[in-house]
Amino acid sequence: MEQLHIVGGHRLSGKVRISGAKNAVLKLMAAALLVENECIIRNVPLIKDVLTMIEVLRSLGAEITWEDEAVLRIKPKKDLNYTAPDELVREMRASVQVMGPLLTKIGKVKLFQPGGCVIGQRPIDLHLKGFQALGAEVVEEHGYVYADARKLKGVDIHLDFPSVGATENIMAAAILAEGTTVIKNAAKEPEIIEEQNFYNRLGARIRGAGTDTIRIEGVPKLRSVPVDYTVIPDRIEAGTYILAAAITGGDVTLVDVIPEHCEALTSKLKEAGVQITTDGDMIRVVSNTRLKAIDTTVLPYPGFPTDLQPQMTAVMTLADGTSLITENVFGGRFRYVDELVRMGANIRVEGRSAIIKGVNRLTGAVVLAPDLRAGAALVLAGLVAEGNTVIEGVHYIDRGYERLEEKLTALGAEITRI
Ligand code: UD1
Repeated sequence: MEQLHIVGGHRLSGKVRISGAKNAVLKLMAAALLVENECIIRNVPLIKDVLTMIEVLRSLGAEITWEDEAVLRIKPKKDLNYTAPDELVREMRASVQVMGPLLTKIGKVKLFQPGGCVIGQRPIDLHLKGFQALGAEVVEEHGYVYADARKLKGVDIHLDFPSVGATENIMAAAILAEGTTVIKNAAKEPEIIEEQNFYNRLGARIRGAGTDTIRIEGVPKLRSVPVDYTVIPDRIEAGTYILAAAITGGDVTLVDVIPEHCEALTSKLKEAGVQITTDGDMIRVVSNTRLKAIDTTVLPYPGFPTDLQPQMTAVMTLADGTSLITENVFGGRFRYVDELVRMGANIRVEGRSAIIKGVNRLTGAVVLAPDLRAGAALVLAGLVAEGNTVIEGVHYIDRGYERLEEKLTALGAEITRI
């Protein structure tokens, strides 16, 4: 079992390059199943979830090679399998994103039903309702979900909640449908625009990604052209380094970022007293006073991202005053709070909110990361806590952060993997 050991108290300074976006690249890899020829995806982060998605795609019949650092070549075979091994689907929920592309390409898919998850209930009912509305037959039995469709037909679909995964899966399923599909109350995340752009390069006709209405005009066939695509920077990794600079009273410049994608966070931090300036694809974060407590409400994009909620809580533990963080996306996302409390934080959870009374110091302790972003929050707390912090459950953090210790060490942190 690996652990991260952190000696707290170092002010971070310097430059850090942000990697490609995990939540975009995983979906683009799934989307690559629709490629007639082959495709190159660039700026791919070397993280555990990408390695798992490579295994999922190989099991479905795609050839995948690393061409270079951060460059993947994907060539799907003519005859794809319609199912992937259960253990891979169990390991990574994002495996469900192969459903839409498989329905389009081969007209059927069978997957192990992804169950509950450490951050709360994560059903896929909205994905399945969308497939059904398009004309697929969907059966859930013996712990599996099957979807079958000889021919899909365009339809208007109104999502009850702007689910990222459902929007992406329905978009993929509608590409070759007969007629036009309109997804209303669609998720507006930048990662969805990435997918629209990728599919359109293959010959799909999709408009509106980034707004709440996406229109997919079915085409009879995709083009057989090689595609070369570079993934956007990871706004959640960027947000984590911005918060690392804020909590350590640092002076950190992030390079290769899209500042607009981080605005929900940066506008909040400015309110808390952090100096933030942007220039092209750079963000400079300077923090040299005790931060003011501020309230944060988590919402779908462009609201404050749920994937930065635990890290924001960690920063607020040391702010001056009481802050309230309300989580509106994933109900069960406060499991890390007890670990921060063990480090000296004063936090009380009531329903969907955490009430954080700022304290003067955190102290290092042995803590357990309960999930990926919560793990990042514990790292932030460790960076500033007095003495040594030992973080267990590092495999969660490895799912989504490329070379975390290396990047933090280059900024002056004392962090090692044992
Ligand atoms: C994606 C991201 C995840 C992020 C989340 C919200 C990936 C790989 N993961 O997850 O990091 O935290 O968006 O920004 O991109 N829901 C339903 N029924 C459904 C689908 C979702 O009720 O069929 C609910 C979920 O329980 C949750 C909410 O909708 O409460 C948001 O989920 P969703 O946007 O689908 O998240 P994911 O796509 O799973």
